[in-house]
Amino acid sequence: MNVILLGYPGSGKGTQAKVLAKQFGLFHVSTGDIFREELAKKTPLGREVAGYLSAGRLVPDKLVLEVLKNRLGTETRGLLFDGFPRTVEQAEGLDAWFDSRGMAVDAVIFINVPEAEVAKRLGDRRTCSGCGRIYNVGTQPPAKADVCDACGKPLVTREDDKPGVIIRRLQVYRDQTEPLLAYYRAAGNFYEANGGLDPESVAASIAGMLKGK
Ligand code: AP5
Ligand code: MG
Repeated sequence: MNVILLGYPGSGKGTQAKVLAKQFGLFHVSTGDIFREELAKKTPLGREVAGYLSAGRLVPDKLVLEVLKNRLGTETRGLLFDGFPRTVEQAEGLDAWFDSRGMAVDAVIFINVPEAEVAKRLGDRRTCSGCGRIYNVGTQPPAKADVCDACGKPLVTREDDKPGVIIRRLQVYRDQTEPLLAYYRAAGNFYEANGGLDPESVAASIAGMLKGK
């Protein structure tokens, strides 16, 4: 089963992907996480994408597709995409690549959350510098301030969760990613989840959509 999670920055794609990947035995593919890892390791790819991430702009489609094909070339598990595709060009690239490998997109889940709510969530997000676990100082705080419950490493604020960059990312989503909703609605296997519920309820509703796929 290959699944795509779509939604605004801050809609809960990463939060849900971690739960669903475990539950359904899928390989969680977050292009944002891949780029942040490369940045942290100061690789040539990391240096190439740094400016896009810190400005809240999209990495060029050709580069994104190339990175994914390299990373996923030998993966045999079902894929759970989080933050990819991000443009119609990326979706077409994925379709062509899947066709060439006899694969298909089995479900596209749009996690629907109002823009005012996602902006607040992004400002309140903290991420573990060790294991990547996602927190929220308002709604999902750690037991001890600024320390990960799971691995004890410090929590950090993402570079692109600064107010000015958040505004840019929301604009980029409206301009470049929202057109994907029509693309995938037309393709079929399109589902919409109410992402405004608590994370456990969102996960249960998405799991219901994926059962039997
Ligand atoms: P990426 O890392 O993909 O970021 P994003 O899409 O902007 O999404 P986020 O990770 O910010 O949000 P999320 O939906 O995962 O929400 P989360 O679960 O964390 O991309 C970053 C950058 O990389 C891009 O700007 C671009 O530069 C580049 N990039 C990546 N992919 C690319 C691509 N394909 N093409 C081109 N460029 C690309 O939750 C957010 C907060 O809300 C957390 O605090 C969480 O605790 C809280 N929360 C989650 N669910 C709930 C809930 N149900 N109720 C209350 N709070 C909740
Ligand atoms: Mg994310």
